[in-house]
This record gives sequence, structure tokens and C-alpha cells, in this order.
Amino acid sequence: MSPLRPVRPPFRLGTILRGISFLRAVLPAALAVAADDNWQQREDNAAWRAECSACHLAFPPGLLSPDDWAVIMSELDKHFGANASLEERVRKDISAYLVRNGNRNRSFGNTEETPRITGTEWFFRSHKSAIRLWQKGRVKSLVDCAVCHKGPDIERMSGK
Ligand code: HEC
Ligand code: HEC
Repeated sequence: MSPLRPVRPPFRLGTILRGISFLRAVLPAALAVAADDNWQQREDNAAWRAECSACHLAFPPGLLSPDDWAVIMSELDKHFGANASLEERVRKDISAYLVRNGNRNRSFGNTEETPRITGTEWFFRSHKSAIRLWQKGRVKSLVDCAVCHKGPDIERMSGK
């Protein structure tokens, strides 16, 4: 897996975090917000659930803009260093699903060539403490959402 590209420097952080005690402190908050609409896809799609959960969480459509989903779905053969190619019929089905349910709020868009959920303004804003932990090497990857988000919401997204 390729490492995340460096995050924009530096954030003004409200809270000083201390390792594990941080995680204990924030997990209830994470669980509370996990019930938020952003996790909850309004429409389900079996192909998306099956295919996009093979290597990582099936990321909820509402966490990225329609344009960014379209970019991701058009470059599956070069997908973050992996080949995630799909049969064209399946690719089209998933692509249409993600674009239809993508988040039109500007803060869910990317300016990078390779769009990422972890590269959106929304992610930077809502994950300041998580980014701080990652910068300190306390979490290996921000893409591994399940490290911090647990419970029924994340289980729903893991393709099971
Ligand atoms: C063959 C494995 C594989 C499959 C299948 C796969 N991905 Fe990925 N995906 C990856 C890898 C590897 C990364 C980069 C992870 C990292 O940076 O740690 C990634 C990253 C992503 C990211 C960016 C995560 C972020 O915010 O940093 C998105 C969005 C994404 N994948 C969507 C999808 C979608 C949609 C599908 C289904 C069509 C899919 N992936 C299927 C391997 C895969
Ligand atoms: C290192 C821990 C950590 C990781 C990794 C992490 N999160 Fe979070 N996340 C949090 C915390 C803590 C909050 C609560 C934000 C707050 O209250 O400061 C949160 C909040 C959220 C929210 C609700 C915020 C909102 O504005 O709606 C969503 C949705 C979310 N995370 C999704 C994700 C996804 C998807 C990933 C993986 C791409 C991810 N998180 C990775 C810790 C993490």
C-alpha cells in the first residue's frame, strides 16, 4: 500500500492529545457521529458492496463528490498502485451509483489529481485530532477508518 501523501501543514489544534488516552476519549464521539448521514448511504448497491470492500472498507458514497467518484471509477486499472479493474457492465453500475450518491457539498471535493476522501476539506476539518495522531506515527494510516470507527456503522460498510 502506498503511504498517504503528506497532509497540508500545520493545523491549529485545539486539543493536546496523548496516545491511547486520546483514543479512549474520542471513541464515544466517533461512535456518536458515526450514525451521521455521511456514513449512511441512502441507496444500497450490491456490486459496490462486493467489489469495493475487497481491499478496504467500501467507502460510503456520501464522503466524496460526484466528480471525484467519476475520476476514481475511470482509472480502476491504476487504482492507488493496485489493479481494481472490473467488467465494464459492473464498473458502469458502480460508477453510476457512486456518482448519483456523491456529496455535492464543495468540501467533499478534491483538488488533487488522484481524489481521496482523506484529501477532502471535510476530512481535514473533521479529523484534525486523527491527523495529528497520524503525523506522530500513532496511527499507521488514515485510510484504515476501522482503526477508530467501530460498531454497526463501520460493519455495514465492510461488505459483510
Ligand atoms: C485490489 C484492491 C482494491 C480494490 C478492489 C479497490 N481498492 Fe480502493 N484502494 C486500494 C488501495 C491500495 C488504496 C490506497 C490505500 C492507502 O492509501 O492506504 C485505495 C484507496 C481508495 C480510495 C481513497 C481512500 C482515501 O481517502 O485515501 C478510494 C476513494 C477508493 N479506494 C475507492 C474504491 C472503490 C470505489 C472501489 C470499488 C470500485 C475500490 N476502491 C476497490 C485498493 C483497492
Ligand atoms: C485516527 C482515528 C480516525 C481515523 C483513522 C478515521 N477517523 Fe473518522 N473520525 C475520528 C474522530 C475522532 C471523529 C470525530 C470528530 C471529532 O469530533 O473531532 C471522526 C469523525 C468522522 C465522521 C463524522 C464527521 C462528520 O463531519 O460527519 C465520519 C463520517 C468519519 N469520521 C469517517 C471516516 C472515514 C471514512 C475514515 C477513513 C477514510 C475515517 N473516518 C478515519 C477518528 C478517525
